Amino acid sequence: MPIETDRAAAEALLQEWVASDALRRHCRAVELAMRAYAEDLGEDPEAWGCVGLLHDFDWERHPSLEQHPQDGEPALAAAGYPDWFRRAILSHADHTGVIRETPLEKHLFACDELCGFLHACGLVRPTGLVGITPKSVKKKLKDKRFAANVSRADVRAGAEEIGSTLDDHITRVAAALEPASAELGLPTG
Ligand SMILES: [Fe+2]
Ligand SMILES: [Fe+2]
Repeated sequence: MPIETDRAAAEALLQEWVASDALRRHCRAVELAMRAYAEDLGEDPEAWGCVGLLHDFDWERHPSLEQHPQDGEPALAAAGYPDWFRRAILSHADHTGVIRETPLEKHLFACDELCGFLHACGLVRPTGLVGITPKSVKKKLKDKRFAANVSRADVRAGAEEIGSTLDDHITRVAAALEPASAELGLPTG
């Protein structure tokens, strides 16, 4: 099996590099969102999922924009991940200067920040992501004190880059994450 579709290999790399449950859950959430979009688009869910799972794999060792994700890239190359895979991961961070061109790259960017925001929304609702609506998520987006570390501009730009409305994007990603609520540390409704 090529490394780029080998989920066990991606998981092993993540376990080796990431100790924090919160970061592992974020990576898992982005994996689930990427898999969902790959299925919708007729792309390869394994490859898209692995890109999602590994997009922040180096964050604990490289917790600054001067390092992440560019300093993690050589480790991915050494593990045998192909060019397009590493390029996608580099492109999720605007500061790398790697322009997002492919659907894979655009969806990774779109899923990253929204997954973080939806997770925050799920944590404060007694029923987690069960029954969450775009309307309630957008209300929270307007509350600048809520999950203040999430870039609202990136959430909106992400939806635009994939040619989606914010409502549809929220609905799609929430539906992808909701079945994994327990694993993601969210209330299960
Ligand atoms: Fe990142
Ligand atoms: Fe991320």
